[in-house]
Amino acid sequence: MILERIGYCIVSWKRKAALCLVMATVAGLGMVSVAVAKKVFEADKGPKTIDVSGYPKPYQERYNKIFSKKCRKCHTLARPINTNFEPTKWEKYVKRMMRKKDSGIKSEDGENIWQFLMFDTKERRKSFWEKLPEDEKKLIEESIKKVMSEN
Ligand code: HEC
Repeated sequence: MILERIGYCIVSWKRKAALCLVMATVAGLGMVSVAVAKKVFEADKGPKTIDVSGYPKPYQERYNKIFSKKCRKCHTLARPINTNFEPTKWEKYVKRMMRKKDSGIKSEDGENIWQFLMFDTKERRKSFWEKLPEDEKKLIEESIKKVMSEN
């Protein structure tokens, strides 16, 4: 009788421990997936808008109609606004964002957004711009020339 009871206790203890382990694993995985989904980037903590009132019209349009609508679907605009990407990196990154599931960003939008980011790099991030290597600066200058001549 006593032995049976001890046996039962051991079995039920093992079951409880196993159940506990399963629950802990589920909770742990849940927490990890929330953390991944809500990962906060340093840039997220900065300003969420750019004052483009002094920008030339084609860039104001790109900001108001495209960038500020398309790039805040999954995170705030603070993320692209406060990230110090080199111009060459922006091209890859805009494409990466476009490819994300349900991004809703067409390739024409992507190009306009990239053009806006090029101008904005020169206009707003002056100390960053000054330190850029010549070829990166040239990329920006050429993009600005193209946009301004087309509009
Ligand atoms: C469909 C959802 C979605 C859309 C739309 C989107 N992003 Fe993102 N973005 C993400 C996710 C998710 C991350 C986290 C890193 C990753 O997966 O690349 C991210 C990260 C970023 C980062 C941080 C990169 C770093 O390492 O600092 C920048 C910059 C960025 N996005 C810019 C943009 C721009 C610009 C647009 C508009 C063209 C945009 N995002 C639109 C989902 C999106």
